[in-house]
Amino acid sequence: MPFEKTILCIGAGYVGGPTMAMIAAKCPGYKVTVVDINADRIRAWNSDHLPIYEPGLDELVKETRGRNLFFSTEIEKEIADCEIIFVSVNTPTKTFGHGAGMAADLQYWERTARQILRHANSNKIIVEKSTLPVRTALAMERILNASSGNTRFDVVSNPEFLAEGSAIKDLDTPDRVLIGSQETPEGLQARKAIVDIYANWVPRDKIIESNVWSSELSKLAANAFLAQRISSINSISALCEKTEANIDEVAYAIGTDSRIGAGFLKASVGFGGSCFKKDILNLVYICRSYGLDTVADYWQSVVKINEWQESRFIRNMLANMFNTVAGKRIALFGFAFKANTGDTRESPAIYVAKGLLEEQAEVVISDPKALSNAPKELEGVEGDMTFEPDPYAAAKEAHAIAVLTEWNQYRDLDYERVFESMIQPAFIFDGRNILDHEKLYEIGFNVLAIGKKPLKHF
Ligand code: UDX
Ligand code: UDX
Repeated sequence: MPFEKTILCIGAGYVGGPTMAMIAAKCPGYKVTVVDINADRIRAWNSDHLPIYEPGLDELVKETRGRNLFFSTEIEKEIADCEIIFVSVNTPTKTFGHGAGMAADLQYWERTARQILRHANSNKIIVEKSTLPVRTALAMERILNASSGNTRFDVVSNPEFLAEGSAIKDLDTPDRVLIGSQETPEGLQARKAIVDIYANWVPRDKIIESNVWSSELSKLAANAFLAQRISSINSISALCEKTEANIDEVAYAIGTDSRIGAGFLKASVGFGGSCFKKDILNLVYICRSYGLDTVADYWQSVVKINEWQESRFIRNMLANMFNTVAGKRIALFGFAFKANTGDTRESPAIYVAKGLLEEQAEVVISDPKALSNAPKELEGVEGDMTFEPDPYAAAKEAHAIAVLTEWNQYRDLDYERVFESMIQPAFIFDGRNILDHEKLYEIGFNVLAIGKKPLKHF
């Protein structure tokens, strides 16, 4: 039986892969193909070892792959064959030229648009999944329609709000799905085609429709607001450490105000991930380009506080360990930017590891899922570093442990055993506030947590 709809996704990354697996699972009548220029990645998607770790993803891919979900490198053929193309290629921060370090690098996006143009021989709906600067859709439509002959392209914005580590749950029961298009008859028709896909499983009142610019900007704004909450609570954590207020108590007290809400108020060593910093810098760049410098400064301070929080963590380690960590073994518990993912992009652990290596510490990195990515992040960095999956082995003969990712397994370790194996005085720096600090102090550790009174034996 022919498929009802043929969907293509260009970019088999953290967003493209899981999103398409969910669409394939929820819409068995659609043919969903994911392509990528990276042949290794496609090979991995077709194997038993998927290129990314995400709870529930293996099962979803097992159920759909070969039935109506396909991974391929035949980009050109697939472009020709499909009706709807999701574009989910990466849009990193530009590293060169005008806007370097701030603006989004759109070269992959534009190259993909031109590739679509070359190989499409029937009308297509192009869906922006990648996070893009507001007004990109217009540029894309111009490139696509400039020399398309009789082929028509409509560009729809459908930003992805999934968070890593909970991607499958977020895709299955999203808070909302946002779909923006031009408000012309053709734009509205293209919008409807995308609404129809999600309506297969998402309640209609959770599918928000808007104009294309609102949709593009909402993605940047949502990430900026989320990151701003973390920077806000982290700024208060520094004040807690000076005043003996407890950041978890403060966060709970303010979060119970229904106007504020409890989410995203967990103080930490800093936020990481591929999106927050990139998207805020992009927002800042756009504001500046429109002459809105005060607005740009406001959002830039969110990134500034985050960098300050990371450097504060290292300074705090140094200050407590008698102002030197040179030659001291330090175990990093966690390298992923958050729990339940192997992703290390922009992880605060990279910053902490580099800072400690600069101070000539012996750094031992442990993580249940991120040890294949971790060495890549530290490529070219000099110093004494090793990678050790077993946290007990990592902590053996260490002077200090720094908890950098909130993996559950670090809550449940036998800390008496850990303490016995360490050099005394032994320190724990809890960059995620996940451990039982009083208990660790009773065992004998000196415990330094974010936004908490130091618990020291001297
Ligand atoms: C995505 C979005 O692209 C990004 O803008 C958003 O902010 C977060 O989600 P992500 O899925 O995490 O990013 O990116 P990544 O895992 O790097 O995947 C992108 C994929 O696109 C890579 O596998 C890359 O090989 C592929 N790609 C890139 C192409 O297939 N063609 C290209 O021209 C460029
Ligand atoms: C984020 C957005 O949540 C998601 O909607 C968007 O699509 C992509 O960017 P992600 O980066 O995957 O998702 O993870 P998120 O859960 O937002 O965490 C980002 C960082 O903030 C992590 O380093 C996390 O540990 C940190 N964080 C989060 C805190 O430090 N405190 C908190 O309260 C919440």
